[in-house]
Amino acid sequence: MTQTAPRSVILGTGSAVPSKVVTNDDLAKIVDTSDEWITTRTGIRERRVLEDSKATSDLALLASERALEDAGLDVGDLEAIIAGTCTPDYQFPSLGCVLEAKLGAKEVFSFDVNAACSGFLNALSVADLFIRSGRIGNALVVGSDVLSRYLDWQDRSTCILFGDAAGAAVLGAGDNGDRGILSTRLQTDGSYAETLYIRAGGTKKPATQETVENREHSIYMNGKEVFKVAVRSMEDISRRVLEEAGLGVEDVSLVVPHQANRRIIAALAARLDIPMDRVVVNLDRYGNTSAASVPVALDEVRRAGRIAEGDIVLLNAFGAGFAWGASVIRF
Ligand code: UT7
Repeated sequence: MTQTAPRSVILGTGSAVPSKVVTNDDLAKIVDTSDEWITTRTGIRERRVLEDSKATSDLALLASERALEDAGLDVGDLEAIIAGTCTPDYQFPSLGCVLEAKLGAKEVFSFDVNAACSGFLNALSVADLFIRSGRIGNALVVGSDVLSRYLDWQDRSTCILFGDAAGAAVLGAGDNGDRGILSTRLQTDGSYAETLYIRAGGTKKPATQETVENREHSIYMNGKEVFKVAVRSMEDISRRVLEEAGLGVEDVSLVVPHQANRRIIAALAARLDIPMDRVVVNLDRYGNTSAASVPVALDEVRRAGRIAEGDIVLLNAFGAGFAWGASVIRF
């Protein structure tokens, strides 16, 4: 039998949200909506919005510093930064590079992965493979998005859903025990690209006065279509990672799902036959924070002591692309 590489383990986590809170009632003053509609259709009560003077890297920096501190890892010993984001500070260079400089990391390589709301899971998977190959001994994995900059505040079907945040995890090589990332799967279906996207600003339709006037630099979404495919896909991929890990849904201590809509999460839990008291929900406070949603929720439950040693935690996400993924971790 060939020797298997040690699994990657989560050494620490951190998260950060902007201080500015925007409630449903605040939104009802600018678009034709209500707290009642938003709460019953989505579960969201409030979200955080980043101040104009700050950028994605500022949130990512705070989350990363907290994760490094939690892991007890000196930034000088960090070997890689992999950032999941679709809203970096600049078109280029990457958020990873900007963050690396802000952290003061030296002997690292950094890059971004763009898988929208699944960005953290994609970044986690890449870091896991680098570590298991033996190429690196640790990595900082970040999920950070500031979607408030891409919202049309006149479109009630999208502006009520999203918020800004950053989450991070420090991953390291395990000790050949049974802890760590047991299995991760990623999947995409690019035929849905224009079901959830930003129409202008890329090479297909560069920014012009007309694109700005037509409000094409903000999120367009066919919410109903996303909803349907999200539930189906996350159920399917969650079952697959569990099967690959030799586990069943009854082994899962906690599910940390992408926080897009409470009804999506409840439908997923029902299909997986996992009671909601084993499913993490924090979207009432933050809305959908894209790539940050899974690592922020994970950090909150870790710090609240809801994860014990040996617990099996299932992460899953779904978003633009469509891109989705799941990961099963033994803590
Ligand atoms: O991260 C992954 C990306 N995103 C998602 O996963 C989101 C997936 N989709 C969803 O969460 C839901 O589809 C939404 C929350 C976006 C929408 O909920 P829905 O139950 O699918 O509502 P709907 O789009 O069918 O709209 C129902 C009604 C419509 O009015 P009519 O046509 O029935 O008269 C909308 O115009 O609700 C209206 N509506 C609103 N009313 C008050 C839509 N947005 C609002 C609003 N306030 N904010």
